[in-house]
Amino acid sequence: MTNSSASPYGTLPPASPVSVRKPISLPRMNEMRSRGEKITMLTAYDATFAAVADAAGVECILVGDSLGMVCQGLSSTVGVSLEAMRYHVECVSRGIRKVQGTAWILGDLPFGSYQESKEQAIRSATVLMQAGAHMVKLEGGGWTTDIVSFLVERGIPVAAHLGLTPQTVHSLGGYRVQGRGDDAAKKLRQEALALQDAGASMMILEMVPEPLSTELTVELPACHTIGIGAGKGTAGQVLVMHDMLGINLGKNPKFVHNFMAGESSVLEAMRAYVAAVKNGTFPDNEKHAWT
Ligand code: KIV
Repeated sequence: MTNSSASPYGTLPPASPVSVRKPISLPRMNEMRSRGEKITMLTAYDATFAAVADAAGVECILVGDSLGMVCQGLSSTVGVSLEAMRYHVECVSRGIRKVQGTAWILGDLPFGSYQESKEQAIRSATVLMQAGAHMVKLEGGGWTTDIVSFLVERGIPVAAHLGLTPQTVHSLGGYRVQGRGDDAAKKLRQEALALQDAGASMMILEMVPEPLSTELTVELPACHTIGIGAGKGTAGQVLVMHDMLGINLGKNPKFVHNFMAGESSVLEAMRAYVAAVKNGTFPDNEKHAWT
């Protein structure tokens, strides 16, 4: 990976023996938010792509259970195991360390690894933290609130995930917008506030109407809202890496933009994503959001 013309990844800056970049942390994200700077997040599942995302300036790397679809060829995230998540978190963490990267790594707790009990949740979270995650993510509200406070009290930072929660896609009746209408919006708001009170310091809002996610961002000062198909009013944005590189094997959801178009390398595409999120040109509410 030394010649940008020969590598589709682009050329990474040389790793310095003493990194001059400060690692991303929750206090640093608080500072970013207080000066109105958007937080960027991409998924990554291996060492190389994680290092490229880090070099592009992506602050948060989510080792998402979307790896079930993009790496394992599954039709949903339901079949992803804790062992698979552990393996990919470790790969990403090694890649970031190798380039003395600064990104904050989130490890997704997969379906079946936290539903049973708080004890099961902490055992699973420990596996991902020991593999190199800085934070774990879990899906859903209501029943998850106690699990979030249990993990946070024991020193594990937690990201919540509301709206379209892919692990429960079969109960939700498909990949569709959530929180539409007064009752659904009220329920989602109550769950979000309870998760913030329980100590969640980040919250993915997936396929939530733009006005609701914008209001929630104001109502959740202690919890950074990261949107995916939730409009531009959130504290940050996330996309699945394969989607934003235009190599999704299936149909792209409306909220996706192909950042590879017009760019000469993966590094440049990721830089374009970071720039677009920071300068507010992505997402474009006309094209990528729901009301
Ligand atoms: O698993 C994943 O990639 C995710 C994102 C869609 C937010 O949860």
